[in-house]
Amino acid sequence: MTDAPPETTIFPMPRAAGHPFDPAPELARRSKEEPISRVRLWDGTTPWLVTAYEDVRAVLADPRVGVDVAEPGFPHTNAVSKARDARMKTLMQMDAPEHTAHRRLLTADFMVKKMEALRPRIQRVVDDLIDDLLAGPNPADLVEALALPVPSLVICELLGVPYADRAFFQRVAGELVMDEGDPARALAAGEELNAYLEALVAAKSADPGEDVLSRLAVEQYGTGAMTLREIATMGQLLLVAGHDTTANMIALGTAALLANPGQLAAVRDGDPALVANAVEELLRYLSITHTEARRVAREDLEIGGRLIRKGEGIVVVKSTANRDPSAFPDPDVLDVRRRVRHHVAFGYGVHQCLGQPLARVELQVVYGTLYRRIPTLALATPPEELEFKQQAVFYGVRELPVTW
Ligand code: HEM
Repeated sequence: MTDAPPETTIFPMPRAAGHPFDPAPELARRSKEEPISRVRLWDGTTPWLVTAYEDVRAVLADPRVGVDVAEPGFPHTNAVSKARDARMKTLMQMDAPEHTAHRRLLTADFMVKKMEALRPRIQRVVDDLIDDLLAGPNPADLVEALALPVPSLVICELLGVPYADRAFFQRVAGELVMDEGDPARALAAGEELNAYLEALVAAKSADPGEDVLSRLAVEQYGTGAMTLREIATMGQLLLVAGHDTTANMIALGTAALLANPGQLAAVRDGDPALVANAVEELLRYLSITHTEARRVAREDLEIGGRLIRKGEGIVVVKSTANRDPSAFPDPDVLDVRRRVRHHVAFGYGVHQCLGQPLARVELQVVYGTLYRRIPTLALATPPEELEFKQQAVFYGVRELPVTW
């Protein structure tokens, strides 16, 4: 084992053609051969790459590890994300106590109980969209018809963002997560979305509704506790994280099940508990947030027998942690019946996904409904022709042409 960093590494690392559901081969190799190693990023920084399950959890739970993007050693994905992080501070770029205070403002909105209460509404949304799909042309693109609209509609209703504006925010959100890989556009998109949300929050402070942004407009902006900009930034994180992630899980999860017909049959014929378990297994198996979690050491610390010094960056790899055989026997097998709740697809520690109760209900309703209502669902193109989002923050398929 050596500390010498290799040649420059690209993030996200591309997954292999023919193995689109597995972690990038280079990450898988490292997780087997040198679970903690150094990488050299685009800007010459040489953060640690942590790939094993126990080490990943240890880093993410350690209060000596932070997310201060201004630290010189912080591992930025690329120049765009660095520039964006410098301009926009969301929950994901805050350490305690600022993080604790901001996160507390939203905890109640995404509680399990509250999200469970949304289940009938989400079921109606999914049923209506499947009705439309079945009434429309065959084949159809499942991303357009179902995967994107379900989480978009739901997060819009929760936040109080008019769904009629979806063409606008889906475009800017796509540019923001560097789907199309144009740096200047990604930055401009962030500004455009912020301006839109600032105007929306200002309007809500005068005429509030029953939604999260109205509440923040009244309780935070109205009392001078937060600026319009701060609330818009919070809204931006929720809007982008709230629809793009789940949309990718719906389409990619369906692609993975179609490639594993036995597993698809188990989900289709399974009870709600099995469907819920299948959601967890697909989250583990696919690990879609493939720019990984980025951190910086605030003090010296030892992880997996290696000394990480104060100021050094850490890239925490969830895709390999979720395929670590010490935590998941036969990790490369998709098995919707395995015990899997301990996966790290939603992260771990204080930054663990705020929206996971919502994502879980959405995915349970979609997986529990789609294959039952359309038992003949099949890919309309050969699997090797599917196009995967290798460079986006959230991994997925660009289109999922299906027939029935
Ligand atoms: C399947 C869907 C989803 C996946 C796989 C996912 C994944 C993640 C992960 C891995 C993190 C932690 C990042 C880190 O440690 O640096 C995270 C954080 C976050 N997620 Fe999600 N997410 C999903 C859905 C959602 C939804 C629906 C929302 C919506 C409201 C949401 C809102 C957030 C927020 C606000 C954070 C930041 C939390 C913090 O820094 O304290 N996510 N998500």
